[in-house]
Amino acid sequence: MNISEPFSDLARYYDAIMSDVDYDRWLVVTTAVAELFPTKQFTHLDVGCGTSLLMKQLLRYGWNSMGVDISQSMLRNGRRSGPLPVTAAADMRSLPVVGQFDYATCLFDSLNFLLTAEGLRVAVREIATSLADDGLFYFDIITERMVTEHFENRKWVESNGGFSTSWEGVFDRKTSIARTAVTVNQQLPSVIEERIHTVDEVRKALDEAGFTLLGLYDAEDWRAPTRKSLRLDGVAVKGDPTLYRKKMRGVESFLRDAFK
Ligand SMILES: C[S@@+](CC[C@H](N)C(=O)[O-])C[C@H]1O[C@@H](n2cnc3c(N)ncnc32)[C@H](O)[C@@H]1O
Repeated sequence: MNISEPFSDLARYYDAIMSDVDYDRWLVVTTAVAELFPTKQFTHLDVGCGTSLLMKQLLRYGWNSMGVDISQSMLRNGRRSGPLPVTAAADMRSLPVVGQFDYATCLFDSLNFLLTAEGLRVAVREIATSLADDGLFYFDIITERMVTEHFENRKWVESNGGFSTSWEGVFDRKTSIARTAVTVNQQLPSVIEERIHTVDEVRKALDEAGFTLLGLYDAEDWRAPTRKSLRLDGVAVKGDPTLYRKKMRGVESFLRDAFK
């Protein structure tokens, strides 16, 4: 069991475990949000990039992307097959870049891996610092509903082709931390811990970092979040939102149509 780096053992199985996950949805939103930029000449930073699954698709579109992740194992496993984006090991609470990027993404729960509200605030501030003025930030978070409906007190086994994974989830309501033990082929479990951040905490972190939220959506249909939402997508701008507000309505209606 490795709590500080839960992906060290899981990383080599990660792409296979996630092969049923709808990465195209993130690709569609990531590229739709990028339409807000006046030109195609923007730089992109994927924070918590994992094995670079998203960036590999973006490279095919000619994007100028770079990824950072705290897990050396995830980065290393991402390099086992091309195309190969530029990546570096970094904790999102201490990013090595300043004012360099036009667009940051932080997806597939990566913000939920920060286990305190303070960690969330620090990371969002670092992401803001890594962006140029008017830079955009597209992120997602899972909700408590996701945990209580799909993970809490549940045990299940998945067959992933050449191997199987067993999963066991618990949720500590006091700390808002969900722990999922994932065991590949009956080896030792890796324990994944994720904190459910409240929307208020996210808004506060964005605000303090100098972001203006352009919109927060149910990731399934890009409509307003409800009690039933499992995952939320957010788009924020570093600084003045005027530049993007009108065009953002177009992005919303495009995505609502796409996810009908
Ligand atoms: C569920 S994975 C998502 C990876 C990738 N975004 C994807 O879509 O496949 C969460 C990722 O967040 C990374 N992560 C967790 N805490 C982090 C931190 N403090 N700084 C940078 N990356 C972190 C993990 O190592 C892991 O690769």
